[in-house]
Amino acid sequence: MLKIAIQKSGRLYDQSIRLLNECGLIIDNAKGQLKVSVQNFDAEILFLRNSDIPKYTESGVADLAIVGENVIQEMNVEVKKLIQLGFSKCRLSIATPKQSNYNSILSLQQKKIATSYPNTLQRYLQSQNIDASIHQISGSVEIAPNIGLADAICDLVSSGNTLFKNNLVEQEVILHSQAALYANENTSKTKKDLIEQLLFRIESVQRAKAFDYILFNIPNKNIKLASSILPGLKSPTIIPLLTPDWSSVHSVIEKKQYWQIINKLKSIGAEGILVSPVQKMVL
Ligand code: PRP
Repeated sequence: MLKIAIQKSGRLYDQSIRLLNECGLIIDNAKGQLKVSVQNFDAEILFLRNSDIPKYTESGVADLAIVGENVIQEMNVEVKKLIQLGFSKCRLSIATPKQSNYNSILSLQQKKIATSYPNTLQRYLQSQNIDASIHQISGSVEIAPNIGLADAICDLVSSGNTLFKNNLVEQEVILHSQAALYANENTSKTKKDLIEQLLFRIESVQRAKAFDYILFNIPNKNIKLASSILPGLKSPTIIPLLTPDWSSVHSVIEKKQYWQIINKLKSIGAEGILVSPVQKMVL
């Protein structure tokens, strides 16, 4: 049985569960549980503290884990990153009080920096030849300068609201991070097969999120032109309409090209354009 570790609570919890559900895994009564079997896949979900997930995955207690890249970097463990998951995007940054005279990283020389990410910060400071003292705290890092505990902080920033509320200004981005799927380095062949199956499903779900399904009507004489505008999978599906000399064209389009494609299609006489989301996309 494949053991998949996810956050017990916190920012990644909801989206981790959603992703597994989108991959077809049925997980009953997950809230408040520490371990739950998946009904229709040979796996169980372990709900762990964020900071415990890297070690458990490295040691093989968990075969797979959904966790932030920032946590893996900080813990410095030997695990294999399989795929980035595109959610919980954030950055680890150094911030200073608004009123401080920060000019460059050199302003941190001999200063005190509070953080929950001492290892990552230490590596960064070393790479910049900065000699500062690191004060490790486990939470509410943003309050440290206000209570005289530190001159600067190093913490995760997502929307920037927490920094703003605490009169702090982001000065240096140390790393960009998002949720990713990691695997233990020495999984058995049977488990590797299960991991491959899950990875295949995740890729189908992710691919689908980047595309929309499109259908529209067009005079037959412009079908070739329409096909050249549509970067579909193979070629669009063409279905004749009852109206003579008209057809319905079906295809998929990348969301980021959406408006350019719609404008071009309209300019060659496309009508009744319908666009809908794609749930899964298997190539
Ligand atoms: C993180 C981080 C900041 C906050 C930043 O804490 O430590 O406090 O998010 O987010 P923002 O830029 O959107 O305001 P989180 O709420 O994840 O909990 P934590 O304190 O347990 O890390």
